[in-house]
Amino acid sequence: MARYAYVNGRYVDHRLAKVHVEDRGYQLADGVYEVVGVRDGKLIDETPHLDRLDRSLKELRIAAPVSRKTLTFVIRELMRRNRLRDGLIYMQVTRGVARRDHAFPTIPVKPALVLTTKNTKPVGIDVGPGIAIKSQRDIRWERCDIKTVALLPNVLAKQAARESGAYEAWLVDSAGCVTEGASTNAWIVTRDGELVTRQTDNGILAGITRGTLKSIADTLQLKLVERPFSLTEAKQAREAFITSATSFVTPVVKIDGEPVGDGKPGPTARRLREEYVRFADTGEAVA
Ligand code: PDD
Repeated sequence: MARYAYVNGRYVDHRLAKVHVEDRGYQLADGVYEVVGVRDGKLIDETPHLDRLDRSLKELRIAAPVSRKTLTFVIRELMRRNRLRDGLIYMQVTRGVARRDHAFPTIPVKPALVLTTKNTKPVGIDVGPGIAIKSQRDIRWERCDIKTVALLPNVLAKQAARESGAYEAWLVDSAGCVTEGASTNAWIVTRDGELVTRQTDNGILAGITRGTLKSIADTLQLKLVERPFSLTEAKQAREAFITSATSFVTPVVKIDGEPVGDGKPGPTARRLREEYVRFADTGEAVA
């Protein structure tokens, strides 16, 4: 079966899908993206993801390439053509194709829209063995709240993690605090049982999974505090975990080679994973 990509109004064979060499996304990373999970044929948290896409576009003054109605139609049509039941939808919007110049094009340019899909195995309730983290200096810019395709610092941090045998990098700011992961949000459970994740501001991406997990934690009456936490505090935490559209809730069992807690996935991460999977299945946070 051919796999399709959507490129500027056309559904094309994924292997042949192309954008122009003068696309500003390619030339200047002048664009934004979104990744939405699909479970059993349904999108997880579609509205907040599309709202975040709109926000990213607005912050960079890129016009929406199509209406929300059209975009939701294109998503479904691509899912249908690719028989996507479980996996991910990737959407990317760039400022468009123009003669190379750092400044915005002075003549009207249509923003470019690309969508692709990826099949994955459905994420299970079982958290597995947990993952290892490697800390890396956060060398990103001051607008990490925008989901831009300019991901070089994230790419380098992730690669350094992988080369050290870790799965994800945690980015550490100049104050020694963990901002977030290279492509995930970071959480800890302190020794006092407080659930902690960094507050959302320009320093991190406001993860959609993070947002949903906040309401799940609230329903479960967990004590959630949004504040910065240091790498040292993370290493001494009872539990740690990451969240994202791709990883749901995944326990962290090692940071820079040191075990977190007893070095095994903890009960809070297990419970939150269970509830998040339930949410992904039913659309309801906590039955
Ligand atoms: N990454 N922080 C960063 C820097 C991210 O890139 C992501 C998402 C998250 C989690 O956001 P969400 O819960 O909305 O997925 C946090 C996506 C999955 C990616 O780049 O593939």
